[in-house]
Amino acid sequence: MEKSLRISRTITCDVLIIGAGGAGLRCAAEVFERRAGARVVAVTKVPHAQKSHTTTAQGGLAAVDPTDPVDKPIFHMFDTWKGSDCSADQNIIQRIVESAWDQIVWLEHRGMHFSRDLDGKLRKRTFGGHTIDFGEASAYRAVFEADRTGKGIMDTLWGETLKGGITFINQAVATELIFDRNRCVGAIVFKLKEGEFLCIAAKATVLATGGSGQVYQITTNCRQNTGDGLALVLKAGLPIMDAEAVQFHPTGIVGPGILASETLRSVGGILRNKDLEPFMEKYAPKMKELAPRDLVARAIETEIREGRGVMNPDYGVEHVWIDLRHLPDHIHDVQIPEVSSFFKKFLNIDPKKELCPIRPSNHYHMGGIPTDENGAVERGPGEIVEGLFAIGECASASFHGFNRLGTNSILELITMGKFAGEKALEYIDDPVSLPKDAGEITFSHFSKFLNAQGKEKIGRIRSELQAMMTEKVGVFRSEQGLIQAMEAIKELQERSERAALSQRSLKMNQELVQRWELDNLLAVSMVIVCSGLHRRESRGGHFREDYPERNDDFHYHTLAYMPISGDVKLGRRPIDMSIFEARGPDYEKFGLIERKY
Ligand code: FUM
Repeated sequence: MEKSLRISRTITCDVLIIGAGGAGLRCAAEVFERRAGARVVAVTKVPHAQKSHTTTAQGGLAAVDPTDPVDKPIFHMFDTWKGSDCSADQNIIQRIVESAWDQIVWLEHRGMHFSRDLDGKLRKRTFGGHTIDFGEASAYRAVFEADRTGKGIMDTLWGETLKGGITFINQAVATELIFDRNRCVGAIVFKLKEGEFLCIAAKATVLATGGSGQVYQITTNCRQNTGDGLALVLKAGLPIMDAEAVQFHPTGIVGPGILASETLRSVGGILRNKDLEPFMEKYAPKMKELAPRDLVARAIETEIREGRGVMNPDYGVEHVWIDLRHLPDHIHDVQIPEVSSFFKKFLNIDPKKELCPIRPSNHYHMGGIPTDENGAVERGPGEIVEGLFAIGECASASFHGFNRLGTNSILELITMGKFAGEKALEYIDDPVSLPKDAGEITFSHFSKFLNAQGKEKIGRIRSELQAMMTEKVGVFRSEQGLIQAMEAIKELQERSERAALSQRSLKMNQELVQRWELDNLLAVSMVIVCSGLHRRESRGGHFREDYPERNDDFHYHTLAYMPISGDVKLGRRPIDMSIFEARGPDYEKFGLIERKY
C-alpha cells in the first residue's frame, strides 16, 4: 500500500449529502426546516454547488394544481405509467404526483421566479407524453422559469441551505461508503485540491451524485456526470436497478450534443428530414412531436438509417432538422431565449431564420440505486440499508420506469429530496461508531492507480469506451452488439490497469481523478450492458432490434450487483402495481396497457 495514503481528518455530522445539486440541496433544506441547527455537510465534485448539473435544466417541472379545472393528478399518474412502458412503481408515482403542487408552492414561497401570464397566474407548458383525459389531448402541466428552470431552483435552494448553515466541501469526491454492520455511518471523501482524504462520520448519508451520461460520447450531461454514486454502491456490494434503462433526448444540438429543450417542440417546433418532410406523424399519429422521448428518438434515428438524414460537414455526423422559423418573435425572445442562444453560440445559426440540426443525445439514466418511497437504499426487494439514502438521477425509486417523461425528473428530485430529508432525521439521535478499517478500500484502489505501470492513456481509453457505448448500447441495441460491448469493456478494463500516471502527487492531480472516474465509467457501462443483454425485449428506452416488442415475462426491475469488478450477478425486484390492485376509479388504465401515441 502507498505510504502517503492516510486519513488526514475525521469530521462528524448529522447528515452527509454526497452531491449538491437539486436533490441534495432540497434534502438539506428539509433537514434544516425540521431540525434547526442540524449539522449538514454537502460534498460536491464541482468548484461550487451552483455548477451542479441541475442548473442546466431548461424545460420545467410537471405538477398538477389540485384546483385546475382541466388537468387532474390521476392523468399525470396515468401518463407517467404509460410513458414508463408499464415499468415504474405505482406507489412512487402516486406519492410523487400527489405531493407535486405542494413543492411548487414551497419553491414559490422561498423566492423562485416562476414565469407568469398576464393575469399573474403561473404559466404552464406541455411536454411529450403529458395528456389530459388519459391521452385525449396535450396537458399544460409543466411550470417553468423561462428556459432556465434549473437555475431558478438552484438559486432558491442555495439560499435556503445557506440560511440553514450548511457546510460545503467543494471539489471533493466520495470514494467509499463506511458501514457498521447493516448501517451506513458515513463516507471517505477525497479532496481534489488538497489531495487529502477525510473520514466523514454521519448519522445519515444521502447519495445525490447525479447521472452517468459521460458513459456516452454524445450527451447532454455535464463533464462531472461519471456515474460516481453508482460505482460507489456497486463496490459496497449493493445493486443498481434497471441499469439498461437509459434515455436519449431526441434533440441534442448536433456536434456537442448539448440539450435543445423539448420546449422547442412544446412551443410548436417541427421535426423535418432531409426532404423537409415533417415525419413524426408516421411514428406517433396523434401526439407527433409531443410523443415520449424514446419514441421520438427512435423515429429520428430511423429517418437517418433509412437515408433521410442530412450530413453535417463540420462534425461528419448525420442529423435531422428542428424547424422554428415559423414561430413568432415573442416566442423566440421570451420563451426560448436560452436555447436559441445555444444554436447561435455553438453553430452560428439563427433559429428565427434557419433550420437547426439536431440528433438524439444521451440525456438521463432512469436506472440507478434502488430505493423505497423515502429514498432509503435497498439491498434487495424490501430490504433497506439503515442510514443510507439515494435521491435524484443516481437513484431509482422508480418513478420513471424505462422511459422518463420530460419535466418529471425535476419533480422527482424535489419531492424525493424532501422525503429523504424527512426520513434521514429519524437517524440523527442515534450515535455512530466507525469501523477500524474505514478507508482501506479507497487506499487499495488509489494505490493501484498511483503505482500502475504501462503506456496506456486514460483519456484514450475513456474516449474509446464512450464511442463504443454510443455505437453499440445506444438508441438501438442487439444481442450481438451487447456481447461485443461486454468484450470491449473487459479489454478496456485490462488496458486501464496499464495506464501509468504522469505524476504521483495527490494534490490537484487531475489525472488521478480521471483514473478514478474511468473505473466508475467502466463499472457503470458493465452493468448497463449485462442488464441489457439479459432483458430480451424492448421496453421504453431499452430497444432491442432482435426483440422489438415488450414482453411482459420481463415485467420486473433488474437488479445488478458487481462487488468484484467485472463479475455481475443479476436479481429482480417486482414492479409495484398498487394503483391497479386497489381497483379504484380508472384502475384498468394502470394495467399492462398498450403504448400507442
Ligand atoms: O427538454 C428539456 O427541457 C428537458 C427536460 C427534462 O429532461 O425533463
